Amino acid sequence: MIRDLLKNLVTEILKSQNWPVLKSEKIQIEKPDNPNFADYAANIAFHLAKQLKKPPQEVAQILVKEIDKVKPTEIERVETVDGYVNFFLSNEFLRQSLSDLYKNRKSYGKSSSGKGQKIIIEYSQPNIAKQMHIGHLRTTVLGDALANIYKNLGYKVIRWNYLGDWGTQFGKLITAYKLWGNQLKTQLSGSTTKYLVVEPLSCERPLTIGDLTELYVKFHQELKEHPELDRRGQEEFAKLEAGDKENRKLWEWFRKLSVKEFERIYKTLVINFDIWLGESHFEKELKSLVADLRKREIAEIGEEGAIIIKLDQFNLPPALIQKADGASLYLTRDIAALQYRLDKYKPAKLLYVVGNEQSLHFEQLFAAAKILDLNTAELSHIKYGLVLGEDKKKMSTREGETIPLEEVIQKAVNLASDIVEKKSQNLSEKEKSQIAETVAIGALKYEMLKEHRNSDIVFGWEKMLDFTGNSAPYLQYTFARLQSILAKSKIKNQKSKLLEELKENKEFAIIKHLLDYPDTVADSARNNLTNNLALYLYELSNLANQFYETVPILKDDNIPRRNARLILIQTTASILKSGLELLGINVLNKI
Ligand code: ARG
Repeated sequence: MIRDLLKNLVTEILKSQNWPVLKSEKIQIEKPDNPNFADYAANIAFHLAKQLKKPPQEVAQILVKEIDKVKPTEIERVETVDGYVNFFLSNEFLRQSLSDLYKNRKSYGKSSSGKGQKIIIEYSQPNIAKQMHIGHLRTTVLGDALANIYKNLGYKVIRWNYLGDWGTQFGKLITAYKLWGNQLKTQLSGSTTKYLVVEPLSCERPLTIGDLTELYVKFHQELKEHPELDRRGQEEFAKLEAGDKENRKLWEWFRKLSVKEFERIYKTLVINFDIWLGESHFEKELKSLVADLRKREIAEIGEEGAIIIKLDQFNLPPALIQKADGASLYLTRDIAALQYRLDKYKPAKLLYVVGNEQSLHFEQLFAAAKILDLNTAELSHIKYGLVLGEDKKKMSTREGETIPLEEVIQKAVNLASDIVEKKSQNLSEKEKSQIAETVAIGALKYEMLKEHRNSDIVFGWEKMLDFTGNSAPYLQYTFARLQSILAKSKIKNQKSKLLEELKENKEFAIIKHLLDYPDTVADSARNNLTNNLALYLYELSNLANQFYETVPILKDDNIPRRNARLILIQTTASILKSGLELLGINVLNKI
Protein backbone atom coordinates (compact mmCIF):
# COMPACT_ATOMS: atom_id res chain seq x y z
CA MET A 1 0.00 0.00 0.00
CA ILE A 2 2.22 2.73 1.28
CA ARG A 3 5.12 1.09 -0.53
CA ASP A 4 3.18 1.25 -3.79
CA LEU A 5 2.51 4.89 -3.25
CA LEU A 6 6.20 5.61 -2.74
CA LYS A 7 7.15 3.45 -5.72
CA ASN A 8 4.75 5.33 -7.96
CA LEU A 9 6.09 8.59 -6.73
CA VAL A 10 9.66 7.55 -7.53
CA THR A 11 8.63 6.24 -10.95
CA GLU A 12 7.02 9.58 -11.80
CA ILE A 13 10.21 11.40 -10.93
CA LEU A 14 12.30 9.02 -13.04
CA LYS A 15 10.02 9.70 -15.98
CA SER A 16 10.12 13.45 -15.51
CA GLN A 17 13.93 13.35 -15.41
CA ASN A 18 14.10 11.18 -18.51
CA TRP A 19 16.00 8.65 -16.45
CA PRO A 20 15.76 4.93 -17.06
CA VAL A 21 12.51 3.78 -15.52
CA LEU A 22 13.13 0.74 -13.35
CA LYS A 23 10.71 -2.12 -13.01
CA SER A 24 8.56 -1.93 -9.93
CA GLU A 25 10.31 -4.94 -8.30
CA LYS A 26 13.64 -3.19 -8.71
CA ILE A 27 12.51 -0.21 -6.68
CA GLN A 28 13.01 -1.41 -3.14
CA ILE A 29 11.27 0.48 -0.39
CA GLU A 30 12.43 -0.82 2.96
CA LYS A 31 11.72 -0.04 6.56
CA PRO A 32 15.01 0.78 8.27
CA ASP A 33 15.71 -1.16 11.46
CA ASN A 34 15.98 2.08 13.36
CA PRO A 35 12.76 4.05 12.86
CA ASN A 36 14.58 7.28 13.73
CA PHE A 37 16.39 7.10 10.40
CA ALA A 38 13.22 7.08 8.35
CA ASP A 39 9.80 5.50 8.06
CA TYR A 40 10.78 4.10 4.68
CA ALA A 41 14.02 4.20 2.75
CA ALA A 42 14.77 3.61 -0.94
CA ASN A 43 18.14 2.51 -2.31
CA ILE A 44 17.23 3.38 -5.86
CA ALA A 45 20.07 5.89 -6.27
CA PHE A 46 22.52 3.00 -6.10
CA HIS A 47 20.75 1.26 -8.97
CA LEU A 48 20.73 4.38 -11.10
CA ALA A 49 24.21 5.63 -10.29
CA LYS A 50 25.99 3.37 -12.74
CA GLN A 51 23.67 4.03 -15.63
CA LEU A 52 23.69 7.76 -15.05
CA LYS A 53 27.43 7.80 -14.39
CA LYS A 54 26.90 9.90 -11.29
CA PRO A 55 27.70 9.07 -7.67
CA PRO A 56 24.67 7.71 -5.80
CA GLN A 57 24.73 10.64 -3.37
CA GLU A 58 24.22 13.06 -6.22
CA VAL A 59 21.41 10.98 -7.76
CA ALA A 60 19.73 10.79 -4.36
CA GLN A 61 19.97 14.55 -3.93
CA ILE A 62 18.26 15.19 -7.24
CA LEU A 63 15.55 12.67 -6.35
CA VAL A 64 14.94 14.32 -3.00
CA LYS A 65 14.75 17.76 -4.56
CA GLU A 66 12.25 16.61 -7.15
CA ILE A 67 10.14 14.63 -4.70
CA ASP A 68 10.08 17.64 -2.44
CA LYS A 69 8.58 19.73 -5.23
CA VAL A 70 5.59 17.45 -5.73
CA LYS A 71 5.46 16.21 -2.15
CA PRO A 72 2.06 14.57 -1.64
CA THR A 73 0.22 14.99 1.65
CA GLU A 74 1.22 11.51 2.77
CA ILE A 75 4.80 12.63 3.14
CA GLU A 76 6.01 14.93 5.85
CA ARG A 77 9.56 15.22 4.59
CA VAL A 78 12.08 13.47 2.44
CA GLU A 79 15.83 13.62 2.88
CA THR A 80 18.96 11.81 1.85
CA VAL A 81 21.69 10.22 3.90
CA ASP A 82 24.58 8.34 2.30
CA GLY A 83 22.77 7.85 -0.99
CA TYR A 84 19.55 6.56 0.53
CA VAL A 85 16.30 8.41 0.00
CA ASN A 86 14.48 8.56 3.33
CA PHE A 87 10.78 9.21 3.65
CA PHE A 88 8.88 10.35 6.73
CA LEU A 89 5.11 10.00 6.77
CA SER A 90 2.93 12.90 7.81
CA ASN A 91 0.86 12.77 10.98
CA GLU A 92 -2.14 13.89 9.03
CA PHE A 93 -1.80 10.92 6.72
CA LEU A 94 -1.33 8.56 9.66
CA ARG A 95 -4.48 9.81 11.37
CA GLN A 96 -6.44 9.48 8.16
CA SER A 97 -5.06 5.98 7.69
CA LEU A 98 -6.15 4.96 11.14
CA SER A 99 -9.60 6.25 10.46
CA ASP A 100 -9.81 4.18 7.26
CA LEU A 101 -8.32 1.17 8.95
CA TYR A 102 -10.74 1.36 11.79
CA LYS A 103 -13.65 1.33 9.41
CA ASN A 104 -12.29 -1.63 7.46
CA ARG A 105 -10.62 -3.40 10.32
CA LYS A 106 -12.47 -6.68 9.80
CA SER A 107 -11.34 -7.05 6.19
CA TYR A 108 -7.99 -5.32 6.51
CA GLY A 109 -5.16 -7.45 5.12
CA LYS A 110 -7.55 -9.44 2.93
CA SER A 111 -7.11 -9.10 -0.79
CA SER A 112 -8.36 -10.61 -3.98
CA SER A 113 -4.97 -11.10 -5.57
CA GLY A 114 -5.49 -14.87 -5.73
CA LYS A 115 -9.05 -14.70 -6.97
CA GLY A 116 -9.95 -17.36 -9.51
CA GLN A 117 -6.86 -19.40 -8.68
CA LYS A 118 -6.82 -22.76 -7.00
CA ILE A 119 -4.04 -23.89 -4.75
CA ILE A 120 -3.56 -27.37 -3.34
CA ILE A 121 -1.63 -27.37 -0.09
CA GLU A 122 -0.48 -30.77 1.03
CA TYR A 123 0.56 -31.03 4.65
CA SER A 124 0.75 -33.29 7.70
CA GLN A 125 0.83 -36.54 5.63
CA PRO A 126 1.44 -38.97 8.51
CA ASN A 127 2.17 -42.60 7.81
CA ILE A 128 -0.51 -44.94 9.03
CA ALA A 129 0.32 -47.57 11.63
CA LYS A 130 2.81 -45.15 13.15
CA GLN A 131 2.22 -42.50 15.73
CA MET A 132 2.56 -38.90 14.70
CA HIS A 133 5.62 -37.29 16.21
CA ILE A 134 6.90 -33.79 16.74
CA GLY A 135 8.06 -33.41 13.12
CA HIS A 136 4.46 -33.83 12.02
CA LEU A 137 3.53 -30.87 14.16
CA ARG A 138 5.73 -28.67 12.02
CA THR A 139 4.27 -29.65 8.65
CA THR A 140 0.76 -29.64 10.10
CA VAL A 141 0.79 -26.13 11.54
CA LEU A 142 2.91 -24.68 8.76
CA GLY A 143 0.61 -26.06 6.09
CA ASP A 144 -2.47 -24.91 7.95
CA ALA A 145 -1.11 -21.38 8.37
CA LEU A 146 -0.16 -21.13 4.70
CA ALA A 147 -3.60 -22.37 3.75
CA ASN A 148 -5.17 -19.64 5.91
CA ILE A 149 -2.90 -17.02 4.38
CA TYR A 150 -3.64 -18.00 0.79
CA LYS A 151 -7.34 -18.11 1.53
CA ASN A 152 -7.09 -14.62 2.93
CA LEU A 153 -5.63 -13.50 -0.39
CA GLY A 154 -8.62 -14.83 -2.27
CA TYR A 155 -7.27 -18.20 -3.43
CA LYS A 156 -9.50 -21.24 -3.50
CA VAL A 157 -7.51 -23.44 -1.14
CA ILE A 158 -7.64 -27.23 -1.06
CA ARG A 159 -6.17 -28.65 2.15
CA TRP A 160 -4.87 -32.11 1.42
CA ASN A 161 -3.77 -34.82 3.80
CA TYR A 162 -1.75 -37.24 1.69
CA LEU A 163 -1.60 -40.20 4.03
CA GLY A 164 1.36 -42.51 3.85
CA ASP A 165 -0.83 -45.58 3.59
CA TRP A 166 0.91 -47.74 1.02
CA GLY A 167 4.30 -49.33 0.62
CA THR A 168 6.42 -52.36 1.40
CA GLN A 169 6.29 -51.63 5.14
CA PHE A 170 2.72 -52.91 5.18
CA GLY A 171 3.94 -56.27 3.96
CA LYS A 172 6.20 -56.39 7.01
CA LEU A 173 3.44 -55.29 9.33
CA ILE A 174 1.02 -57.86 7.98
CA THR A 175 3.67 -60.53 8.41
CA ALA A 176 4.27 -59.45 11.99
CA TYR A 177 0.58 -59.35 12.72
CA LYS A 178 0.02 -62.82 11.34
CA LEU A 179 2.94 -64.22 13.29
CA TRP A 180 2.64 -62.43 16.61
CA GLY A 181 -0.66 -60.59 16.66
CA ASN A 182 -2.07 -63.06 19.12
CA GLN A 183 0.68 -62.27 21.59
CA LEU A 184 -0.18 -58.61 22.04
CA LYS A 185 -1.17 -58.22 25.64
CA THR A 186 -4.39 -56.47 26.33
CA GLN A 187 -3.82 -53.62 28.68
CA LEU A 188 -7.44 -53.78 29.74
CA SER A 189 -7.08 -56.79 31.92
CA GLY A 190 -4.25 -55.63 34.11
CA SER A 191 -2.06 -58.43 35.36
CA THR A 192 -3.99 -61.33 33.87
CA THR A 193 -2.60 -61.93 30.44
CA LYS A 194 -5.08 -62.03 27.65
CA TYR A 195 -4.26 -62.11 24.02
CA LEU A 196 -5.56 -60.49 20.93
CA VAL A 197 -6.75 -62.86 18.28
CA VAL A 198 -5.85 -62.49 14.66
CA GLU A 199 -9.37 -61.88 13.46
CA PRO A 200 -9.70 -58.12 13.37
CA LEU A 201 -13.30 -58.03 14.43
CA SER A 202 -13.13 -60.25 17.43
CA CYS A 203 -10.23 -58.80 19.35
CA GLU A 204 -10.74 -58.01 22.99
CA ARG A 205 -9.82 -54.40 22.96
CA PRO A 206 -9.28 -51.87 20.23
CA LEU A 207 -5.94 -52.30 18.59
CA THR A 208 -3.87 -49.11 18.77
CA ILE A 209 -1.14 -47.56 16.69
CA GLY A 210 1.08 -48.36 19.67
CA ASP A 211 0.42 -52.08 19.11
CA LEU A 212 1.26 -51.77 15.45
CA THR A 213 4.51 -50.02 16.27
CA GLU A 214 5.32 -52.83 18.66
CA LEU A 215 4.74 -55.38 15.93
CA TYR A 216 6.83 -53.43 13.49
CA VAL A 217 9.70 -53.21 15.97
CA LYS A 218 9.43 -56.92 16.67
CA PHE A 219 9.63 -57.66 12.97
CA HIS A 220 12.93 -55.83 12.73
CA GLN A 221 14.30 -57.50 15.85
CA GLU A 222 13.41 -60.95 14.58
CA LEU A 223 14.79 -60.12 11.15
CA LYS A 224 18.31 -60.13 12.56
CA GLU A 225 18.03 -63.82 13.43
CA HIS A 226 15.62 -64.80 10.67
CA PRO A 227 16.60 -63.01 7.47
CA GLU A 228 14.03 -65.04 5.57
CA LEU A 229 11.36 -62.80 7.10
CA ASP A 230 12.32 -60.17 4.57
CA ARG A 231 11.08 -62.37 1.73
CA ARG A 232 7.88 -63.07 3.58
CA GLY A 233 7.30 -59.33 4.01
CA GLN A 234 7.76 -58.77 0.29
CA GLU A 235 5.37 -61.57 -0.48
CA GLU A 236 2.71 -60.23 1.83
CA PHE A 237 3.03 -56.83 0.20
CA ALA A 238 2.83 -58.37 -3.26
CA LYS A 239 -0.34 -60.14 -2.14
CA LEU A 240 -1.73 -56.89 -0.82
CA GLU A 241 -0.97 -55.17 -4.12
CA ALA A 242 -2.59 -58.03 -5.98
CA GLY A 243 -5.78 -57.59 -3.94
CA ASP A 244 -5.57 -60.59 -1.59
CA LYS A 245 -8.72 -60.46 0.57
CA GLU A 246 -7.22 -61.17 3.97
CA ASN A 247 -4.32 -58.79 3.58
CA ARG A 248 -6.60 -56.12 2.27
CA LYS A 249 -8.84 -56.52 5.30
CA LEU A 250 -5.92 -56.23 7.69
CA TRP A 251 -4.57 -53.19 5.89
CA GLU A 252 -8.00 -51.52 5.98
CA TRP A 253 -8.22 -52.21 9.67
CA PHE A 254 -4.80 -50.68 10.33
CA ARG A 255 -5.70 -47.68 8.25
CA LYS A 256 -9.02 -47.12 9.94
CA LEU A 257 -7.66 -47.22 13.45
CA SER A 258 -4.76 -44.94 12.46
CA VAL A 259 -7.07 -42.38 10.90
CA LYS A 260 -9.18 -42.40 14.03
CA GLU A 261 -6.16 -41.59 16.18
CA PHE A 262 -5.01 -38.88 13.79
CA GLU A 263 -8.43 -37.28 13.76
CA ARG A 264 -8.39 -37.03 17.51
CA ILE A 265 -5.09 -35.17 17.40
CA TYR A 266 -6.22 -32.85 14.62
CA LYS A 267 -9.31 -32.00 16.62
CA THR A 268 -7.21 -30.93 19.59
CA LEU A 269 -4.96 -28.93 17.31
CA VAL A 270 -7.94 -27.37 15.50
CA ILE A 271 -6.69 -28.54 12.10
CA ASN A 272 -8.90 -29.41 9.15
CA PHE A 273 -8.51 -30.95 5.74
CA ASP A 274 -10.69 -30.89 2.67
CA ILE A 275 -9.29 -34.09 1.26
CA TRP A 276 -7.80 -37.18 2.82
CA LEU A 277 -6.40 -39.08 -0.09
CA GLY A 278 -3.20 -40.95 0.45
CA GLU A 279 -0.74 -43.02 -1.44
CA SER A 280 -2.96 -46.10 -1.56
CA HIS A 281 -5.50 -44.27 -3.68
CA PHE A 282 -3.09 -44.25 -6.59
CA GLU A 283 -1.97 -47.83 -6.27
CA LYS A 284 -4.42 -49.10 -8.92
CA GLU A 285 -3.02 -46.80 -11.57
CA LEU A 286 0.62 -47.58 -11.06
CA LYS A 287 0.97 -50.58 -13.32
CA SER A 288 -0.60 -48.81 -16.28
CA LEU A 289 1.33 -45.64 -15.52
CA VAL A 290 4.62 -47.52 -15.63
CA ALA A 291 3.57 -49.40 -18.78
CA ASP A 292 2.62 -46.16 -20.47
CA LEU A 293 5.93 -44.54 -19.59
CA ARG A 294 7.73 -47.57 -20.98
CA LYS A 295 5.74 -47.35 -24.20
CA ARG A 296 6.49 -43.67 -24.58
CA GLU A 297 10.15 -44.50 -23.98
CA ILE A 298 10.28 -42.13 -21.06
CA ALA A 299 11.06 -44.97 -18.68
CA GLU A 300 13.56 -47.73 -19.29
CA ILE A 301 14.84 -50.89 -17.71
CA GLY A 302 17.75 -50.08 -15.46
CA GLU A 303 20.19 -52.21 -13.55
CA GLU A 304 18.89 -55.52 -12.26
CA GLY A 305 15.53 -55.19 -13.90
CA ALA A 306 14.16 -52.14 -12.11
CA ILE A 307 12.36 -49.48 -14.16
CA ILE A 308 13.75 -45.96 -14.10
CA ILE A 309 13.38 -42.54 -15.63
CA LYS A 310 16.75 -41.03 -16.45
CA LEU A 311 17.16 -37.50 -15.13
CA ASP A 312 20.70 -36.79 -16.38
CA GLN A 313 19.61 -33.57 -18.04
CA PHE A 314 18.68 -32.27 -14.59
CA ASN A 315 21.88 -33.56 -13.01
CA LEU A 316 19.84 -35.86 -10.85
CA PRO A 317 20.09 -39.57 -10.17
CA PRO A 318 17.51 -41.64 -12.08
CA ALA A 319 14.03 -41.84 -10.67
CA LEU A 320 13.22 -45.40 -9.67
CA ILE A 321 9.58 -46.07 -10.50
CA GLN A 322 9.29 -49.84 -10.22
CA LYS A 323 11.39 -52.32 -8.31
CA ALA A 324 12.69 -55.45 -9.97
CA ASP A 325 10.04 -57.50 -8.16
CA GLY A 326 7.32 -55.31 -9.64
CA ALA A 327 6.59 -53.37 -6.44
CA SER A 328 5.72 -49.72 -6.86
CA LEU A 329 7.53 -46.91 -5.10
CA TYR A 330 6.88 -43.74 -3.20
CA LEU A 331 7.92 -41.70 -6.22
CA THR A 332 5.65 -43.62 -8.61
CA ARG A 333 2.71 -42.89 -6.37
CA ASP A 334 3.66 -39.22 -6.25
CA ILE A 335 3.74 -39.04 -10.05
CA ALA A 336 0.29 -40.63 -10.23
CA ALA A 337 -1.01 -38.31 -7.49
CA LEU A 338 0.32 -35.27 -9.33
CA GLN A 339 -1.34 -36.32 -12.56
CA TYR A 340 -4.62 -36.88 -10.74
CA ARG A 341 -4.49 -33.52 -8.99
CA LEU A 342 -3.73 -31.57 -12.13
CA ASP A 343 -6.47 -33.33 -14.10
CA LYS A 344 -9.14 -33.21 -11.50
CA TYR A 345 -8.60 -29.87 -9.76
CA LYS A 346 -6.64 -27.78 -12.27
CA PRO A 347 -4.75 -25.90 -9.57
CA ALA A 348 -2.51 -22.93 -10.35
CA LYS A 349 -0.17 -23.92 -7.55
CA LEU A 350 0.64 -27.02 -5.60
CA LEU A 351 2.59 -26.85 -2.34
CA TYR A 352 4.15 -29.88 -0.69
CA VAL A 353 4.91 -29.04 2.93
CA VAL A 354 7.52 -31.70 3.66
CA GLY A 355 10.82 -31.74 5.58
CA ASN A 356 14.19 -30.78 4.11
CA GLU A 357 15.34 -34.37 4.12
CA GLN A 358 13.04 -35.18 1.19
CA SER A 359 14.55 -32.53 -1.08
CA LEU A 360 16.00 -35.03 -3.53
CA HIS A 361 12.69 -36.83 -3.81
CA PHE A 362 10.91 -33.62 -4.78
CA GLU A 363 13.64 -32.55 -7.16
CA GLN A 364 13.21 -35.89 -8.89
CA LEU A 365 9.43 -35.61 -8.86
CA PHE A 366 9.49 -32.12 -10.33
CA ALA A 367 12.05 -33.14 -12.95
CA ALA A 368 9.97 -36.16 -13.91
CA ALA A 369 6.94 -33.84 -14.09
CA LYS A 370 8.79 -31.71 -16.64
CA ILE A 371 9.61 -34.73 -18.78
CA LEU A 372 5.99 -35.87 -18.56
CA ASP A 373 4.63 -32.42 -19.42
CA LEU A 374 2.84 -32.21 -16.09
CA ASN A 375 3.38 -28.49 -16.14
CA THR A 376 0.05 -26.79 -15.68
CA ALA A 377 0.69 -25.86 -12.05
CA GLU A 378 3.56 -24.22 -10.25
CA LEU A 379 4.99 -26.94 -7.99
CA SER A 380 6.87 -26.08 -4.80
CA HIS A 381 8.47 -28.15 -2.12
CA ILE A 382 7.94 -26.12 1.05
CA LYS A 383 10.88 -27.41 3.05
CA TYR A 384 11.40 -27.12 6.73
CA GLY A 385 14.08 -28.01 9.26
CA LEU A 386 14.13 -30.32 12.25
CA VAL A 387 12.53 -29.90 15.63
CA LEU A 388 15.19 -30.51 18.26
CA GLY A 389 14.95 -30.96 21.98
CA GLU A 390 16.35 -28.49 24.49
CA ASP A 391 19.72 -30.27 24.31
CA LYS A 392 19.77 -29.52 20.56
CA LYS A 393 19.51 -33.22 19.85
CA LYS A 394 16.65 -35.05 18.24
CA MET A 395 13.73 -35.10 20.65
CA SER A 396 13.36 -38.61 21.93
CA THR A 397 12.39 -40.72 24.90
CA ARG A 398 14.99 -42.22 27.22
CA GLU A 399 14.85 -45.35 25.12
CA GLY A 400 15.83 -43.28 22.11
CA GLU A 401 12.46 -43.30 20.42
CA THR A 402 10.75 -40.23 19.06
CA ILE A 403 8.17 -38.79 21.41
CA PRO A 404 4.61 -39.24 20.17
CA LEU A 405 2.92 -35.95 19.32
CA GLU A 406 0.05 -36.75 21.60
CA GLU A 407 2.41 -36.78 24.58
CA VAL A 408 3.90 -33.47 23.55
CA ILE A 409 0.45 -31.92 23.36
CA GLN A 410 -0.51 -33.36 26.72
CA LYS A 411 2.58 -31.97 28.35
CA ALA A 412 1.94 -28.52 26.89
CA VAL A 413 -1.63 -28.60 28.22
CA ASN A 414 -0.44 -29.68 31.67
CA LEU A 415 2.16 -26.94 31.85
CA ALA A 416 -0.32 -24.33 30.62
CA SER A 417 -2.85 -25.51 33.22
CA ASP A 418 -0.35 -24.91 36.00
CA ILE A 419 0.27 -21.38 34.78
CA VAL A 420 -3.41 -20.59 34.28
CA GLU A 421 -4.18 -21.98 37.72
CA LYS A 422 -1.84 -19.42 39.25
CA LYS A 423 -2.73 -16.54 36.98
CA SER A 424 -6.49 -16.70 36.73
CA GLN A 425 -7.74 -17.72 40.13
CA ASN A 426 -11.16 -16.17 39.87
CA LEU A 427 -12.30 -18.15 36.85
CA SER A 428 -14.39 -21.30 36.81
CA GLU A 429 -12.72 -24.67 36.31
CA LYS A 430 -14.27 -24.98 32.88
CA GLU A 431 -12.99 -21.56 31.81
CA LYS A 432 -9.56 -22.38 33.15
CA SER A 433 -9.30 -25.62 31.25
CA GLN A 434 -10.46 -23.99 28.01
CA ILE A 435 -7.93 -21.22 28.47
CA ALA A 436 -5.16 -23.70 29.24
CA GLU A 437 -5.90 -25.66 26.10
CA THR A 438 -6.03 -22.59 23.88
CA VAL A 439 -2.81 -21.29 25.42
CA ALA A 440 -1.04 -24.64 25.06
CA ILE A 441 -2.06 -25.23 21.45
CA GLY A 442 -1.28 -21.62 20.57
CA ALA A 443 2.13 -21.94 22.19
CA LEU A 444 2.98 -25.12 20.29
CA LYS A 445 1.89 -23.64 17.00
CA TYR A 446 3.69 -20.33 17.44
CA GLU A 447 6.86 -22.19 18.44
CA MET A 448 6.70 -23.91 15.05
CA LEU A 449 5.81 -20.81 13.06
CA LYS A 450 7.98 -18.07 14.48
CA GLU A 451 11.19 -19.60 13.16
CA HIS A 452 12.22 -19.36 9.52
CA ARG A 453 11.05 -22.66 8.12
CA ASN A 454 14.48 -23.63 6.84
CA SER A 455 16.01 -23.37 10.32
CA ASP A 456 15.91 -26.08 12.91
CA ILE A 457 13.78 -25.34 15.93
CA VAL A 458 15.09 -25.84 19.42
CA PHE A 459 12.01 -26.71 21.34
CA GLY A 460 11.91 -25.01 24.74
CA TRP A 461 8.98 -25.52 27.06
CA GLU A 462 9.69 -22.52 29.20
CA LYS A 463 10.19 -19.95 26.47
CA MET A 464 7.26 -21.32 24.54
CA LEU A 465 4.91 -20.65 27.46
CA ASP A 466 6.55 -17.46 28.69
CA PHE A 467 3.86 -14.79 28.99
CA THR A 468 6.44 -12.05 28.66
CA GLY A 469 8.54 -13.38 25.78
CA ASN A 470 8.14 -13.92 22.06
CA SER A 471 5.44 -16.54 22.48
CA ALA A 472 1.80 -17.14 21.64
CA PRO A 473 0.74 -16.71 25.29
CA TYR A 474 2.28 -13.23 25.24
CA LEU A 475 0.34 -12.31 22.11
CA GLN A 476 -2.85 -13.85 23.46
CA TYR A 477 -2.32 -12.01 26.72
CA THR A 478 -1.83 -8.71 24.91
CA PHE A 479 -5.04 -9.28 23.02
CA ALA A 480 -6.90 -10.06 26.25
CA ARG A 481 -5.54 -6.86 27.84
CA LEU A 482 -6.70 -4.78 24.90
CA GLN A 483 -10.10 -6.44 25.04
CA SER A 484 -10.40 -5.70 28.71
CA ILE A 485 -9.68 -2.01 28.14
CA LEU A 486 -12.35 -1.95 25.45
CA ALA A 487 -14.82 -3.80 27.65
CA LYS A 488 -14.29 -1.34 30.49
CA SER A 489 -14.69 1.62 28.15
CA LYS A 490 -18.15 0.36 27.19
CA ILE A 491 -17.60 1.83 23.78
CA LYS A 492 -18.94 0.09 20.72
CA ASN A 493 -18.71 1.62 17.29
CA GLN A 494 -17.25 5.06 17.43
CA LYS A 495 -17.13 7.93 15.07
CA SER A 496 -13.58 8.06 13.88
CA LYS A 497 -13.52 11.76 13.12
CA LEU A 498 -11.74 12.93 16.21
CA LEU A 499 -8.32 11.57 15.59
CA GLU A 500 -6.60 15.00 15.59
CA GLU A 501 -6.13 14.34 19.26
CA LEU A 502 -3.53 11.71 18.51
CA LYS A 503 -0.17 13.42 18.85
CA GLU A 504 2.15 11.01 20.61
CA ASN A 505 5.00 9.16 18.92
CA LYS A 506 3.84 5.95 20.55
CA GLU A 507 0.50 6.33 18.82
CA PHE A 508 2.02 7.03 15.44
CA ALA A 509 4.41 4.12 15.84
CA ILE A 510 1.46 1.77 16.18
CA ILE A 511 -0.34 3.24 13.19
CA LYS A 512 2.77 2.92 11.05
CA HIS A 513 3.09 -0.68 12.07
CA LEU A 514 -0.56 -1.35 11.30
CA LEU A 515 0.02 -0.01 7.81
CA ASP A 516 2.54 -2.79 7.16
CA TYR A 517 0.07 -5.57 7.80
CA PRO A 518 -1.18 -6.17 4.24
CA ASP A 519 2.38 -6.24 2.87
CA THR A 520 3.41 -8.66 5.60
CA VAL A 521 0.62 -11.08 4.73
CA ALA A 522 1.37 -10.78 1.02
CA ASP A 523 5.08 -11.44 1.70
CA SER A 524 4.16 -14.52 3.69
CA ALA A 525 2.40 -16.00 0.70
CA ARG A 526 5.05 -14.88 -1.76
CA ASN A 527 7.79 -16.68 0.16
CA ASN A 528 5.64 -19.31 1.84
CA LEU A 529 6.91 -18.19 5.21
CA THR A 530 5.25 -17.52 8.52
CA ASN A 531 8.13 -16.16 10.59
CA ASN A 532 7.70 -12.66 9.18
CA LEU A 533 4.04 -12.59 10.18
CA ALA A 534 4.86 -13.97 13.62
CA LEU A 535 7.50 -11.29 14.11
CA TYR A 536 5.09 -8.64 12.89
CA LEU A 537 2.53 -9.66 15.50
CA TYR A 538 5.14 -9.78 18.22
CA GLU A 539 6.25 -6.25 17.39
CA LEU A 540 2.67 -5.07 17.26
CA SER A 541 2.14 -6.51 20.72
CA ASN A 542 5.25 -4.79 22.02
CA LEU A 543 4.10 -1.45 20.66
CA ALA A 544 0.61 -1.94 22.07
CA ASN A 545 1.96 -2.87 25.49
CA GLN A 546 4.31 0.10 25.59
CA PHE A 547 1.40 2.30 24.65
CA TYR A 548 -1.21 1.29 27.18
CA GLU A 549 1.28 0.85 29.97
CA THR A 550 2.57 4.41 29.70
CA VAL A 551 -0.24 6.48 28.20
CA PRO A 552 -3.50 7.00 30.10
CA ILE A 553 -6.48 5.71 28.16
CA LEU A 554 -9.52 5.03 30.31
CA LYS A 555 -8.42 7.59 32.85
CA ASP A 556 -7.84 10.33 30.30
CA ASP A 557 -10.26 13.21 30.99
CA ASN A 558 -9.72 14.66 27.55
CA ILE A 559 -12.70 12.77 26.14
CA PRO A 560 -11.99 13.19 22.40
CA ARG A 561 -8.46 11.97 23.01
CA ARG A 562 -9.67 9.07 25.11
CA ASN A 563 -11.97 8.06 22.28
CA ALA A 564 -9.26 8.41 19.68
CA ARG A 565 -7.00 6.18 21.73
CA LEU A 566 -9.74 3.63 22.10
CA ILE A 567 -10.08 3.57 18.34
CA LEU A 568 -6.41 2.86 18.11
CA ILE A 569 -6.71 0.08 20.69
CA GLN A 570 -9.67 -1.47 18.96
CA THR A 571 -8.00 -1.45 15.57
CA THR A 572 -4.85 -2.94 17.02
CA ALA A 573 -6.77 -5.70 18.78
CA SER A 574 -8.64 -6.50 15.63
CA ILE A 575 -5.49 -6.86 13.54
CA LEU A 576 -3.71 -8.83 16.22
CA LYS A 577 -6.62 -11.22 16.17
CA SER A 578 -6.71 -11.51 12.37
CA GLY A 579 -2.98 -12.15 12.25
CA LEU A 580 -3.06 -14.79 14.96
CA GLU A 581 -5.96 -16.50 13.25
CA LEU A 582 -3.94 -16.66 10.05
CA LEU A 583 -1.36 -18.55 12.04
CA GLY A 584 -4.11 -20.84 13.26
CA ILE A 585 -3.91 -19.47 16.81
CA ASN A 586 -7.06 -18.65 18.69
CA VAL A 587 -7.35 -15.56 20.86
CA LEU A 588 -8.90 -15.27 24.30
CA ASN A 589 -10.89 -12.43 25.78
CA LYS A 590 -9.72 -13.34 29.23
CA ILE A 591 -6.61 -15.00 30.51
N1 ARG B 1 4.18 -39.69 4.32
C1 ARG B 1 5.45 -39.18 3.92
C2 ARG B 1 6.43 -39.30 5.07
O1 ARG B 1 6.03 -39.30 6.20
C3 ARG B 1 5.40 -37.74 3.50
C4 ARG B 1 4.58 -37.49 2.28
C5 ARG B 1 4.97 -36.24 1.60
N2 ARG B 1 4.19 -35.93 0.44
C6 ARG B 1 4.37 -36.43 -0.77
N3 ARG B 1 3.57 -36.05 -1.73
N4 ARG B 1 5.36 -37.23 -1.03
O2 ARG B 1 7.62 -39.37 4.81
